[in-house]
Amino acid sequence: MKEEVLQKFQELFGGEGDIRTYFAPGRVNLIGEHTDYNGGHVFPCALTMGTYAAARKRDDRVLRFYSMNFPEEGVIESSLDDLVCRPEAGWTNYPKGVFWAFGEKGYTVSSGMDIAIYGDIPNGSGLSSSASLEVLIGVMLRDMFGFEVSQIEIALIGQFSENNFNGMNCGIMDQFASAMGKKDCAIFLNTADLSYEYASVKLENAKIVITNSNVKHSLVGSEYNVRRSQCESALKQLQKVVDIKTLGDLDIEQFEAHKSAIADPVEQKRAKHAVYENQRTLEAVKALKENDIAAFGKLMNESHVSLRDDYEVSCPEMDILAEEAWKLPGVLGSRMTGGGFGGCTVSIVENDAVDGFMEKVGAAYEKRTGIKPAFYVVDIGQGAGVI
Ligand code: GLA
Repeated sequence: MKEEVLQKFQELFGGEGDIRTYFAPGRVNLIGEHTDYNGGHVFPCALTMGTYAAARKRDDRVLRFYSMNFPEEGVIESSLDDLVCRPEAGWTNYPKGVFWAFGEKGYTVSSGMDIAIYGDIPNGSGLSSSASLEVLIGVMLRDMFGFEVSQIEIALIGQFSENNFNGMNCGIMDQFASAMGKKDCAIFLNTADLSYEYASVKLENAKIVITNSNVKHSLVGSEYNVRRSQCESALKQLQKVVDIKTLGDLDIEQFEAHKSAIADPVEQKRAKHAVYENQRTLEAVKALKENDIAAFGKLMNESHVSLRDDYEVSCPEMDILAEEAWKLPGVLGSRMTGGGFGGCTVSIVENDAVDGFMEKVGAAYEKRTGIKPAFYVVDIGQGAGVI
């Protein structure tokens, strides 16, 4: 893909000068969903799927973008003097947002650029194609303009850009995983202080399988922001009775003791998910360290149920995928992954059950929904950088 994007770049923008290439991965989250804006823990890993770029500086202030994923849109032009989010700018609002965010953080991009992009993360699959694009532009700007920013700062700038330029109030998980991923490891990240450790997920007898429901409901962005404010409101009410900074500060016992402070039953359910999911994530990582994959899988199943019933961010298609997976022997755990309302499930499947899993879940899902799912057996890759 690197060769292809480079070739396309040369075709469109010419082959002369200092053309450089970059890569940033997508991510799958194993457990810890909707905890990253509640001061909780997450456990994602970077995929080998991701977004590639070829880029070169210009000597004026023009920005020219081309995506091999949206060839019908052709070359989209903008300028460093027009870093404003516009609906007609489509996908280029993500890279433009990162240019803007660097400027806001005091890193001034001094010249325009030509950029060609090519990604293999299915769009809208919940595998963070947008975070990977943001982090990609981050590593590109650092390299091209010599900014002294760490991988974690690049992740934070990507999140800042998505929050303030694109209007999506996401947490830090996706950008962090894309920037900080490590081969064969998941990242155990405490979003309260960004402390993290890598945990090997090289499973001997099982594989991580992603199933793409191939549906994306339009609720994604709006409902996400609603969940965030429900959690904030629940937190404010809890803070009247218990001294906490985030929902992630509560264990289950403390939550149960104080939950009646949350007046609205819906907000109470949202907070319950955030607290229980954080505790599940702590337990799951402990189980993994003890090589107890069965316990890990059970917690994944509980995570799905909680996202479905308490947080209400699943959808019929993802519920069907999880249910069909749970029925099969050799499936240790299965849950929706990412923001919800469509996208993918992630499952842990014993090696010799993987073929049967794809066949049976595929057939049952198609029978019940009329939609063909897609499967990816996951390889865990490295974080973003120059390639
Ligand atoms: C989206 C957001 C993340 C995180 C997940 C849910 O992917 O971008 O920050 O909140 O949803 O866990």
